[in-house]
Amino acid sequence: MSDIGVIGLGVMGKNIALNMLNHGYRVSGYNRSFDRTQLLIDENIPSFSGFEKIEDFIASLEKPRRIFLMVPAGKPVDAVIEQLKPLLSAGDIIMDGGNSYFEDTNRRDKDLQQLGIHYFGVGVSGGEEGALHGPSIMPSGDKQAYASIAKILTDISAKKDKDPCCTYIGPEGSGHYVKMVHNGIEYADMQLLAETYLILKYTLGYTNGEIASTLEAWNQGEVQSYLVDITVTVLREKDNVTENDLVDMILDVAGNKGTGRWTSIEALRQEYNASLLTSAYQARIMSNQIDLRKAYVQANQQKTTNITVEQIHNAYQLAKTIAFVQGFNLYRDASSKYAWNLNLKEIASIFRAGCIIQAKLLQRIMHAYDDGADDLLLYPSIKQDVDQYTSDLKKVIIDAIDLPLPVFTAALTYINQLTAENLGANLIQGQRDFFGAHTYQRIDKEGFEHHEWGAK
Ligand code: 6PG
Repeated sequence: MSDIGVIGLGVMGKNIALNMLNHGYRVSGYNRSFDRTQLLIDENIPSFSGFEKIEDFIASLEKPRRIFLMVPAGKPVDAVIEQLKPLLSAGDIIMDGGNSYFEDTNRRDKDLQQLGIHYFGVGVSGGEEGALHGPSIMPSGDKQAYASIAKILTDISAKKDKDPCCTYIGPEGSGHYVKMVHNGIEYADMQLLAETYLILKYTLGYTNGEIASTLEAWNQGEVQSYLVDITVTVLREKDNVTENDLVDMILDVAGNKGTGRWTSIEALRQEYNASLLTSAYQARIMSNQIDLRKAYVQANQQKTTNITVEQIHNAYQLAKTIAFVQGFNLYRDASSKYAWNLNLKEIASIFRAGCIIQAKLLQRIMHAYDDGADDLLLYPSIKQDVDQYTSDLKKVIIDAIDLPLPVFTAALTYINQLTAENLGANLIQGQRDFFGAHTYQRIDKEGFEHHEWGAK
């Protein structure tokens, strides 16, 4: 009998299964088309059993059965659940390890509760490598049932020093919510690195190699992160065909699979301003406006610059910090909105290894929560960064004003909104009251007033 079954043996599912096998678990595997299962059977791993029929796969599992889904988000997950329903019994556990939309997970959780089946939304981050060697894992669902999957998920997770990068997140779809916003932060930091590349390339005139060396040096300090590290490798890679730098041979268009869009939509629904995350998603949309860009494109003007590498570093550090802060504050907001009771320090902790946004900055965020921080923007050392580095962010943006820097400028706009004495919202109130009698609030008295605008 197997300890756990994995459904979906694409690269991610296969690697998760291998990770479980490497940790001494007996694993059953099932895939919609049998050839993938056969490939794994052919590897002759003693504690792996592959099945062509889902009934046989189910019959091979110890009870309560534990099933880990690694199938594409959306309809495929519902289809597998429908297949499983008649074969499972009360007490069995289904875990969805894909990037499912958290409200789908809420719905599936409710639905399966009626059959006594425990459903877990399991955020998994770390790509193919992480799945095999240790991802960051964000499981959510019934807290008591979690006890019977905690060990296996913890065992296969990444470790930071000795701390496992897996923790129980909360009820229903909260694990997938946490993964979704993780990706929102991921988009923002990726875009900030892309903008840093543009600044170094077009203001300082750096080559790809020089940009890589600059980022490599930065990665020894405060901005250290997995994304900075892989960016260095991407910039140094040579093309096999032309011998140019590979990055110069890649089309200037970026796709996405939806999690960044969901983060932006959700932030708006929560009425929380996650502008850096949203701008990063919009930057990907713009990159795809190929015909429009062709109609407007102008060659970059080479120009002299007054900014230093250190100022660019400080601007990046500040914008990156704000991107993480917006993401964690979004968690804080969702936690109270959905009554999830999220442990924000634990979330920061499990992001320190295995996942795509692993970064030194997370250690600071943990300290902030240890010190009782609530809104991270009010935490003294983060506020101090804003005070200290905003002038460098401004200098960089002014100097690089001709470049498309949506996330750097979103960071500056956000800071300007925080620091401004007047946002112009008084005028908005006047306009709203003028055309819709929406009332306005006065500075010298409580309550709401209406005014007959323009009356003589
Ligand atoms: C991770 C990544 C991963 C992500 C894909 C697709 O944490 O391992 O976030 O789950 O979903 O890399 O991302 P795109 O939306 O950019 O295609």
